Amino acid sequence: MLNEFGYHVGQWDISRFRERPPQDSFTVFDLEWHLLPDVWPGNAIATKLFTSWLPYEEIDSFLEVGCGAGVTAVIAAMRGCSQVCALDINPAAADTARLNAMRHGVGDKVTALTSDLFSELDKDTTFDLIYWNSPFVEAPAGHDYRSQIDYAAFDSDYKVHGAFFAGLEQHMSKTTRVFLGFSETLGNPQRLHELAAESGFTASVYRKEEIALPADYAGPRTSDGEGEGPTSFVYVLYEFRRTAPNA
Ligand SMILES: C[S@@+](CC[C@H](N)C(=O)[O-])C[C@H]1O[C@@H](n2cnc3c(N)ncnc32)[C@H](O)[C@@H]1O
Repeated sequence: MLNEFGYHVGQWDISRFRERPPQDSFTVFDLEWHLLPDVWPGNAIATKLFTSWLPYEEIDSFLEVGCGAGVTAVIAAMRGCSQVCALDINPAAADTARLNAMRHGVGDKVTALTSDLFSELDKDTTFDLIYWNSPFVEAPAGHDYRSQIDYAAFDSDYKVHGAFFAGLEQHMSKTTRVFLGFSETLGNPQRLHELAAESGFTASVYRKEEIALPADYAGPRTSDGEGEGPTSFVYVLYEFRRTAPNA
């Protein structure tokens, strides 16, 4: 069932993004980053948590699906991954990731592509680790995607999440690890796990954190404006494994 509360928070967040003064840079992890118009800024709480949790030291090649401004991809390269691919359906996001890789001295390690999920990857290219901080707010069928930024927050009927799991196998070796950054408060975890299972994957919680709503949080408290609503948002980094090896 659609998480109505998550959908309301997603709409609030995107309208807040549209109404704010244009910004061409942001700061995160003590670094300054480029930001082109209509790209999700990489200083959001979810980006910070997931980026700081991923096990870069254990891998060499890293694929970031939906890279946005490229923060995670660039940090992966800075932390030692020698082959990093950053892709996003939003061409301005791929351009921003490329600019940021050059800005932080890892332009030779990071390849940024405009790609609908894995569509622009060579068919049998595999990675040690595949990661996506997904647009975990489920939107109803017919949701109006007004501009590219909507793809950073919403996935109508979780169609793209389903396609992500269906497309993974082609880019996995026997040892590839798969991670997905998600919010159990704002997304639809039950539907996510069903879609993963349909493609032969099962999730475990790699790391999870509950973040108290800041005192100045001005978003929705509930989907219908009644009652108290959550006082915190739960963010989780899932690791997905094949239900049966090479199933
Ligand atoms: C929640 S944002 C995360 C951005 C960035 N990785 C971060 O952590 O700040 C989700 C990203 O997925 C991208 N995305 C959505 N649908 C996609 C698709 N079908 N193929 C590739 N990227 C997609 C969005 O454009 C957006 O940049």
